[in-house]
Amino acid sequence: MARLSKLSRSVKDRVVLITGAGSGMGRATAHLFADEGAKVAVTDINQAGIDQVVKEITDAGGDARGWNLDVSDGAAIKQVVGDVVGHFGKLDYLINNAGFGAGGPVDSDDYEAVWKKSLDAMLTGQVLLIRAALPHLRESDAARVVNIASTEALGATPYGSPYTVAKHGVVGLTRGLAVDLGKEGNITVNCVCPGAVRTGITKDIPEEHKTKFVRRRVPLVRYAEPEEVAHMTFSICLPAMSYLNGAVIPVDAGLTIKNA
Ligand SMILES: NC(=O)c1ccc[n+]([C@@H]2O[C@H](COP(=O)([O-])OP(=O)(O)OC[C@H]3O[C@@H](n4cnc5c(N)ncnc54)[C@H](O)[C@@H]3O)[C@@H](O)[C@H]2O)c1
Repeated sequence: MARLSKLSRSVKDRVVLITGAGSGMGRATAHLFADEGAKVAVTDINQAGIDQVVKEITDAGGDARGWNLDVSDGAAIKQVVGDVVGHFGKLDYLINNAGFGAGGPVDSDDYEAVWKKSLDAMLTGQVLLIRAALPHLRESDAARVVNIASTEALGATPYGSPYTVAKHGVVGLTRGLAVDLGKEGNITVNCVCPGAVRTGITKDIPEEHKTKFVRRRVPLVRYAEPEEVAHMTFSICLPAMSYLNGAVIPVDAGLTIKNA
C-alpha cells in the first residue's frame, strides 16, 4: 500500500548559508545539514573556525565551502551571498546565527559602543542577510529563513540590555517578515530561542556557576549541547515543515516556563 504521507523530509542537494558557523551552534548546524546531504556555506569572522568546520565536513564526505564574513559589514554580505550562489548555483536556506555576548550597565562609559556593535551584528546583520538572500530564496520551492535569537528575546538578565534589545528585535524582524513574505507562498521566516548552551559564548562561565544556574532555573537541570539546538534549526528547514511561519520557538529545556 502507498504511504499516506506526502511531504519530503530530505534536504539533499539543498544549499544553506549559515553565519557564525565556525563554532558552537552554527558549527553543529552546518554538520547536521552536511550529514543529510545539503551543501553548506560556512561563514564566520573566525577564519580558523571556518577552515576547521569545512575540513570536518569534507573529511566526512560532505560538501562545504568557507567564506569569511563579518555580518556587520553590509557590502561584504552582498558580496558573499553572491559568491555562495555563484559557487553552489542557488540558495534555499539562510540561518542567521552569528552572535556574541555583550552587555554592561546602562551608565557604563562604553555602553553606546557595545549597543551599536550588538545591534549592527545581531539585528541589522540579520535583515541585511535576508535582503541580500531574498532574490535567490525566491527561486527556491521551499525557502527558509531561521533567525537565531535567545531566551533573552523573551525576558532579560541583569546588565545584558544591548544583547536583550538585539534579540527582542530578532523576534520582531521574524514576525514582520513572516507576514510580509508569507504571502509569496514559498518562504517561511522563523526564530529559534536557545536557552543555556555549551558554546564559545558560555565557555568562560565557571562550571560551578553553570551548575548553580541550572539547578535554580532549568527543568532538565543541565546546559544543552549545541547539536540539541541545531536539530530545531534543521527541522524548521525540512520541506515538510511547510506550515510553520513567524514562530518564536524556545529550545531551552523549560527555562522560560519555570516559575519556581
Ligand atoms: N550559547 C548560548 O547559551 C546561547 C543562548 C542563546 C542564544 N545564543 C545565540 O546563538 C548564536 C550562536 O552562538 P553560540 O552560542 O554558538 O556561540 P559561539 O561563540 O560558539 O559561536 C558564535 C560564532 O559567531 C561568530 N561571530 C561573532 N561575531 C560575528 C560577526 N560580526 N560576523 C560573523 N560571525 C560572527 C563567532 O566568531 C563564532 O564563531 C548567537 O546568535 C548567540 O547569541 C547562544
